[in-house]
Amino acid sequence: MPLRNTPCAGSCPIDRARFLRSTALTALAGIAGAGILADPAFAQVGSIAPTQSHGNVLTYALPAKEGALIDADRGVIVARVKNTVYALSITCPHRAVTTLEWIPETKEFHCPKHDAHFQPDGELIDGRPDRAMDRYAVRRAGQSIMVDTAAVWQQDTAHDAWSRAAVTVG
Ligand code: FES
Repeated sequence: MPLRNTPCAGSCPIDRARFLRSTALTALAGIAGAGILADPAFAQVGSIAPTQSHGNVLTYALPAKEGALIDADRGVIVARVKNTVYALSITCPHRAVTTLEWIPETKEFHCPKHDAHFQPDGELIDGRPDRAMDRYAVRRAGQSIMVDTAAVWQQDTAHDAWSRAAVTVG
């Protein structure tokens, strides 16, 4: 369900978990339908849930392939791009109530509210936001990554931390 059809966006309470789940599943359906799974540059798209949760720290399995895995309940996207793993916020950096969606044809994240576009690693392509998608602090622990959802970095106000919020994998 595109956000522009959601009458409460930005002005009244939202059941965040239900909203994120609905939007992410819609995006995932589009991804599968367009054959993105066959694209070696972004081969894996699907949903993910943490294997452990301790307060604000979520542990996820290290993505085995390039692609995006969406934890809609917690608003986290785990993206592996060119052997680097990022934990991205699913909300648009322009207005934090807007949930981003994946556009399989162009291999971009898209904000349906004001038509902004982002690369799979969160970098801004175009649109109203003045920064990239926000990134959570992330570190590797064996074959897992640990995401601290209390440490969310914005590209414009914490550029160094935002740039370091990544894990290189072999
Ligand atoms: S809310 Fe996403 S570009 Fe405005």
